[in-house]
Amino acid sequence: ALRGTFPLKAAKQKEAFHYNLQPQASYKVAVLGAAGGIGQPLALLIKMSPLVSALHLYDIANVKGVAADLSHCNTPSQVLDFTGPAELANCLNGVDVVVIPAGVPRKPGMTRDDLFNINAGIVKSLIEAVADNCPDAFIHIISNPVNSTVPIAAEVLKQKGVYDPKKLFGVTTLDVVRANTFVSQKKNLKLIDVDVPVVGGHAGITILPLLSKTQPAVSFTDEEIEQLTVRIQNAGTEVVEAKAGTGSATLSMAYAAARFVESSLRALNGDADVYECSFVQSDLNELPFFASRVKLGKKGVETFISSDLQGLTGYEEKAVEGLKAELKASIGKGIAFANKQP
Ligand code: NAD
Ligand code: LMR
Repeated sequence: ALRGTFPLKAAKQKEAFHYNLQPQASYKVAVLGAAGGIGQPLALLIKMSPLVSALHLYDIANVKGVAADLSHCNTPSQVLDFTGPAELANCLNGVDVVVIPAGVPRKPGMTRDDLFNINAGIVKSLIEAVADNCPDAFIHIISNPVNSTVPIAAEVLKQKGVYDPKKLFGVTTLDVVRANTFVSQKKNLKLIDVDVPVVGGHAGITILPLLSKTQPAVSFTDEEIEQLTVRIQNAGTEVVEAKAGTGSATLSMAYAAARFVESSLRALNGDADVYECSFVQSDLNELPFFASRVKLGKKGVETFISSDLQGLTGYEEKAVEGLKAELKASIGKGIAFANKQP
């Protein structure tokens, strides 16, 4: 089946919970921004993975307590804390997967692009350290605006001579998680069966659920398509408004990011059936980066599932064309930032 493996089947999930005292592999994962709203629950979920032997938690403050707390869970991984730039190299040394949720979140009335001025610099400096200390790791970027922070990371890695486009991922799993939830609610489907590919990018109209490609096959009225598409595109804003100034999605994001980490670890571990949507360097169309479903393997992106983008409905074709200008501008903004002289 073409879907992610984290919430795959109820039986498998149960297995994961029962087996989590038995190590099944020994990968090292680092979380940068680990004391934050996403970082803490994400670290907890990663701590539950039987595939992880070491969990390295980095932040500029407050990470010691998070690590002490988590380290008491009787699951296989050892938890280590790292505070501030002086400890970043040690945090990254030898890790297989680096997850980056560092940076500021939105408040009501802001777009993700409004975070650019602060988060671009944070991502740039963290990726410089990744390039220097664990250039072979899978890199998962959560910090917004993802449509720009991933191109920034690519440029920094290129400048350092270590860019592997197959291993740099913008995390868009939350868009898929939301699409699956909303579609299963609307159509009364069993959640575990539903899988909707979401393509494009991770902001507003660049988030494009391909509802015609929903598995299992399901038919929607034009009105349902419009409602679901708009809800999925605005789901981040829905949470930002509900949190009323205290932040954006953290718990659902941690869940989604943990799924993407687990999928990456399964791929590294030789599982031959791992598929996820992600915002990656792509040649599916003229844009240098594009989110689509990809097959993950030991070396990162193995194949693009280009069939998702074939045989689209008129609505979807128009939406793909309609998102390109914004996505291109956000990618260009990231590339320009990374290449400007200091
Ligand atoms: P938060 O403010 O709760 O936590 C951010 C953490 O980053 C803090 O602990 C802070 O100390 C840390 N940080 C700041 N500068 C740092 C640096 N230079 N190095 C290391 N850590 C640093 O924010 P949050 O709610 O966890 O959100 C984090 C980011 O994730 C935001 O940019 C948000 O927009 C983004 N986000 C993305 C998605 C997605 O789907 N990709 C979903 C939700 C949130
Ligand atoms: C989300 O989709 O929840 C995140 O990108 C956070 C945000 O600002 O909406």
